[in-house]
Amino acid sequence: MSIPDEFIQELKSRVDIEDVISNYVTLKKSGNRLVGLCPFHREKSPSFSVNKSGNYFHCFGCGAGGDIITFIRKIENVDYVDAIKIIAARAGMDVPEGKADDGLRRLKNRIYEANREAAHFFFDQLMKNPAGNNALKYLRGRCLSDSTIVHFGLGYSPPDRHQLTNHLLSKGFKGEELVAANLVLQSRNGSGKYFDTFSDRVMFPIMDLKGNVIAFGGRIMTDIKPKYLNTAETPVFNKRKNLFAMNFAKNHVKGQIILVEGYMDVIALHQAGFETAVATLGTALTPEQANKIKQYCEEVVICYDSDQAGKNATLRAINILRPAGLRIKVVHVPNGKDPDEFIKSYGEQGPSRYGLLLEQAPNDIEYRLSELRKSFDLNNADDKVKYLTQASDILSAIENPVERDVYSSKLSDDLNVQKKAMESLVERGVRKEQERAYREYNRQNRYNKMPDIIQMNPDRNVNIRAARAEEAIISVMMLNPDVAVKISGELKPEEFVTGFNRNIYTVLLKRLSNGLDVSISDVSGDFTVEEMSMLVRLIDSHVKENNPMSAVSTYISILREEGAKLTPSQIADADNDTIMELIRQTQKKKLGQS
Ligand code: CTP
Ligand code: MN
Repeated sequence: MSIPDEFIQELKSRVDIEDVISNYVTLKKSGNRLVGLCPFHREKSPSFSVNKSGNYFHCFGCGAGGDIITFIRKIENVDYVDAIKIIAARAGMDVPEGKADDGLRRLKNRIYEANREAAHFFFDQLMKNPAGNNALKYLRGRCLSDSTIVHFGLGYSPPDRHQLTNHLLSKGFKGEELVAANLVLQSRNGSGKYFDTFSDRVMFPIMDLKGNVIAFGGRIMTDIKPKYLNTAETPVFNKRKNLFAMNFAKNHVKGQIILVEGYMDVIALHQAGFETAVATLGTALTPEQANKIKQYCEEVVICYDSDQAGKNATLRAINILRPAGLRIKVVHVPNGKDPDEFIKSYGEQGPSRYGLLLEQAPNDIEYRLSELRKSFDLNNADDKVKYLTQASDILSAIENPVERDVYSSKLSDDLNVQKKAMESLVERGVRKEQERAYREYNRQNRYNKMPDIIQMNPDRNVNIRAARAEEAIISVMMLNPDVAVKISGELKPEEFVTGFNRNIYTVLLKRLSNGLDVSISDVSGDFTVEEMSMLVRLIDSHVKENNPMSAVSTYISILREEGAKLTPSQIADADNDTIMELIRQTQKKKLGQS
C-alpha cells in the first residue's frame, strides 16, 4: 500500500517530534537542542539529541538518526507504513489507503490554479462589487492607495460562505482540490457540504518567489478574534519556509532586507518606498527563512513592534540570523508604535523619518547591550558587576576579535572600569566558546570515523576526496531546497564516483522531478532505516556554507576532477588501445569542465 505524500506531509506538520520521542526518552533542553539518553544503545551520559527545527533526531554515540517515522520504525521495529499508522493513530488521524504518489504534482498545480482564481475573485469583490465597499473603505482608511491595493492584489471575502465555493466549483475545480487548498472547508456533520474558509475578511495573498499564490492571510475588520486567519499548511504552503512579500522584495535589495512583524507593516513600508520589507507568516523567524534571506543580501534590519513581545521576538530573530551569516541591525520604533503606525503618524514626513531610523539603527550587539543595561542601576556596585558580567557573555559570542575589542573598550570607558578586567571577562567567555566549538568539531569529525559508513559505501575508502564532495552536495541539497533544484539540472548521477552516494543522489533527483521535497524530514519513505541514519549524520556534520550555491559549484568541480581520474588498476591492466581511449576520455572530460 502506498500512502499519499500529502497525508505524510500533513501528519508531519501536525505531529511534534518532541512529543513523539518524549514517549520513549526523557528529553532535556540544552542550548537549542533537546538531549537525552539514547534508546538505541546503552549509555550513561546523553548523546542522543532532537533537532526540532530540522525535525530529526541523531545519536552521536551510536549514529542512529532520522525523522519521526524512522524513530518509530526503529524503536517499535515496524516497517515504514506501520510506523506511519502508529503515529497517525496517536494523532487521531485516519490513514488514507490506495492513492498513488504521483498525483501530488497534479494536485499542487490545481491548488496554484485555484488560489489564483480565488485571488481574482477576492480582488473583484473588493474593487468591483458593492459588497466590498466597506473593506475598500477600511483599506483606504488605513492609508493604502489604490495602486498599492492593486500591487499586492488585496481582496475581500464576502460574508456569505458559499460564494467562493460556488465560483470555484463552477470553474471546474473539484471539492476535494479546494479542501486541499484550504480555500474551502467540508462540514463534518455528515452532510459533507462545502463552505468558504474565509468570510468577511480583507484578504492578503501570499506568494512564493515565482509569484504563485500559495496562501492567504485574512484580516477581520472589527475587534473580533482571531484578528488574522491564515491558510493552514497545504501541499504548496509551508509557513516556515516562505516570507510575505519576498517575491517583490527580492527585486529591490541593495544589500539589505527589512524584517517586520505584520502584513500591514510590509505593505505600508513598500508604499512608502521601502520595498525590501518582508514579514514572517504568523510564526517566529525560522532558519529556513534566514537562509532564504541570505541568498539575496548580507544584512537584515529587524523592525519589530516595540512592546515586550516584539523585543523577545527580536532576540530570537538575532539568534537565528547570526548563524545564517547575516549582519543585523535593530530599529526600535519609538512610542510603542509599529512601522505602519509610525509612518502614518508623520504624514508626508513619515518616509523620511523612517529612513532616518533605518540609517541610525544600532547593530545587534549595541542593541542587546542597551537593552540589557535597562534592567540595572549602574550606580549600584552589585548591579554594575552583574551588568558587565552579562555584557561580557554577549561580547564573547562575537567572532571577530577586533569587534570584541572595540566593545570591551567602549564598555570599560562608559562604566569606568579597567579595560584589562573587562577583557579578561570576555576572554574567559571566548575560551568557553572555543572549547564548545572544539567539541562540536570533534563531534562532526566522527562521521568520517564511523565504521559502518565504509560497509555501506565501500567505494569511499579509495575515493575519499570524491566521496566528501558528493556528501557535501547531498547535504546542501537536503538543507537548501532551492539549491537542490538547480543542482539537479546540472549534475548527472553518472558523475558520482561512489555507488552509495550515487544511489542516494538518484533517489533525490527522482523526488525533485516529481515535485517532492528532499529535506531530511521528507525522504524517509525512500530510504532504509540505516540509510536515514547515515543521511542524518551527513547533514548534522555538514558545516553550513554562507553561500551554498557557490560552494556547490566547487564541490561539483572537485567531483568532476576526481571522476576524470583513472584508477590505478585501470592504468595497470589496460592494453594499449584501451589506455589510449581512456586518456582521450579523460582529456575530453577535463575540457568539458572548463
Ligand atoms: N498574526 C496571525 N494571526 C493572528 C495575529 C497575527 O497570523 N491572530 C500574524 C500576521 O501575519 C500579522 C502578524 O502576525 O500580520 C503581526 O500581527 P499584528 O502586529 O497584530 O498585525 P499587523 O499586520 O500589524 O495588523 P494590523 O496593523 O492590521 O493590526
Ligand atoms: Mn499593525
